[in-house]
Amino acid sequence: MKVFVSRKIPEIGYQLLKEAGLEVTAWGDDRMLTKDELINYSLQHDGLICMNGERIDKEFLNACKHLKVISLYSVGYDNMDVAEATRLNIPLGNTPDVLSDATADIAFTLLLMTSRKAIFHHKRILNKQWDFFRPTANLGIELKNKTLGIFGLGRIGMEMAKRCKGAYDMKVIYHNRSENKQADEELGAKKVSFDELLAQSDILSVHSALTAETKGIFNYTAFSKMKPASIFINTARGGVHREEDLIKALNEKLIWGAGLDVTNPEPMNADNPLLSMPNVSVLPHIGSATEEARNGMARIAAENAIAGLKGEKLPHPINPEVQKNKI
Ligand code: DGY
Repeated sequence: MKVFVSRKIPEIGYQLLKEAGLEVTAWGDDRMLTKDELINYSLQHDGLICMNGERIDKEFLNACKHLKVISLYSVGYDNMDVAEATRLNIPLGNTPDVLSDATADIAFTLLLMTSRKAIFHHKRILNKQWDFFRPTANLGIELKNKTLGIFGLGRIGMEMAKRCKGAYDMKVIYHNRSENKQADEELGAKKVSFDELLAQSDILSVHSALTAETKGIFNYTAFSKMKPASIFINTARGGVHREEDLIKALNEKLIWGAGLDVTNPEPMNADNPLLSMPNVSVLPHIGSATEEARNGMARIAAENAIAGLKGEKLPHPINPEVQKNKI
């Protein structure tokens, strides 16, 4: 059996695939494959390990119906047409859990950087603008005892909440479809409506998937219901907020600041107005970019691919019903 890996991944992934007796082809160049290239390589293989930036849509899936498994090197699977893959009986896998700490660290880092305008101050030093002590200039805001609102309290949101509770004794509220018992018990977190989340959060941190329901939900109307001193953090997907509305909200001081690890589009243009705002921190989608998380993702992506190629249940399936059909 042959598996294609569409970007270079950590060594542990290849090692596991080879130990399982698979023939592995890994794309070696440091660029994303075009759709046609991805289809062509996939046609010559039985299984695929792919990346979140690659569109696994109807066109791709119907061109590559033969694939026995598509294993995504990512936890978010908004790039995939899950319904179509399920209809075509192709098992899909993703890499949850192993990147939760790393991603929550980036959400927390963005919060600290934004609240103290760290990037702005760093840029001033680079621009030879290191001023003497100025009692009232460029002040930040403190985080102690503030209210953290989590939009989409899953594994990553829970880790962010633990950090904010532990460091600053924040009150935690969240908006989810269902109640998160662990968060209620461990952090005294309270489930609230979307409007309550907007109205009560001092820090609003997005950790939800990008779905038809969440796409653009943080728009001008939502920002205008937030506190003027609040900070908006998004480490999930750029499509969950409307960028032009965020810019407007910041310009009109509807909110105080924003920290983004995800943008729409990615990469963000270097002339984007957000990049020159003192109260905004932007990172280039590095939530999972630690040795530990990326090794863990490579291990899980390989395990999903191996299981799929053996016709077994994937350890981390996106569409588990496909396996049920197969057995
Ligand atoms: C994930 O795993 O979802 C990260 O955001 C990388 O795509």
